[in-house]
Amino acid sequence: MKKVVVLTGAGISAESGLKTFRDSDGLWEGYNIQDVATPEAWEWNPVLVQNFYNERRKSVLEAKPNAAHYALAKLEEQYDVTIITQNIDDLHERAGSTNVIHLHGVITRSQSSIDPRLTYPINGWEIKMGELCELGSQLRAHVVWFGEDVPMIAPAATICADAEVFMLIGTSLAVYPAAGLIRYVAKNVPKFIIDPKIPDVGTGGNIIKVQEKATVGVPAVVEQLLSL
Ligand code: APR
Repeated sequence: MKKVVVLTGAGISAESGLKTFRDSDGLWEGYNIQDVATPEAWEWNPVLVQNFYNERRKSVLEAKPNAAHYALAKLEEQYDVTIITQNIDDLHERAGSTNVIHLHGVITRSQSSIDPRLTYPINGWEIKMGELCELGSQLRAHVVWFGEDVPMIAPAATICADAEVFMLIGTSLAVYPAAGLIRYVAKNVPKFIIDPKIPDVGTGGNIIKVQEKATVGVPAVVEQLLSL
């Protein structure tokens, strides 16, 4: 089976009702990254940070996968699909995708504050202050904050280097190291870029721009790939 590698960002979940970060009315319009998404913020005001992610977890649990998520799951019928997502929602998994790498973690799990390798399922939508990991430290959302390591970036780069088809969906490519992954994809590999506002992906290589929202563009590209 041909290897398809898909890099997704917040845009693929926008039509499921989850805010993106940098569009108008995006998440970073309402919150200052420094206050809610850095290790310093957690030191300074852990309750504010915990509540920020508890609220976002509630929205994720209420959201449903959309046609774009389901189309990528369907692609597995004919291709060896790996989804590398910057998103912390679990909509790809809930749509049926079986091979998902979360570069920035996943909000439906908690992690130890002192060892990010210790992660746990969460009962319900909130992590309460006072809930401790096995090492006795406060549990926090299992997400990668600005300034923290992205442990999955090296395996993700290797996977991109092996891609025979590449899809980039719903990301502004504003945040590294995720944004640099497209450079690992071989020049001649077809790269479908699906976004209403196509980000700057350079001019080199076999680029196919699909200037559509995800629920229109992704099913169309998947249908094309399944007809080959
Ligand atoms: N369909 C497809 N793409 C869409 C849609 C839609 N319906 N709506 C918006 N988009 C696109 C926007 O045009 C933009 O290119 O989704 C992208 C959203 O960009 P960002 O808000 O920057 O989100 P993302 O690229 O995922 O951010 C990367 O930044 O804050 C960090 O950790 C956070 O993982 C996140 C990272």
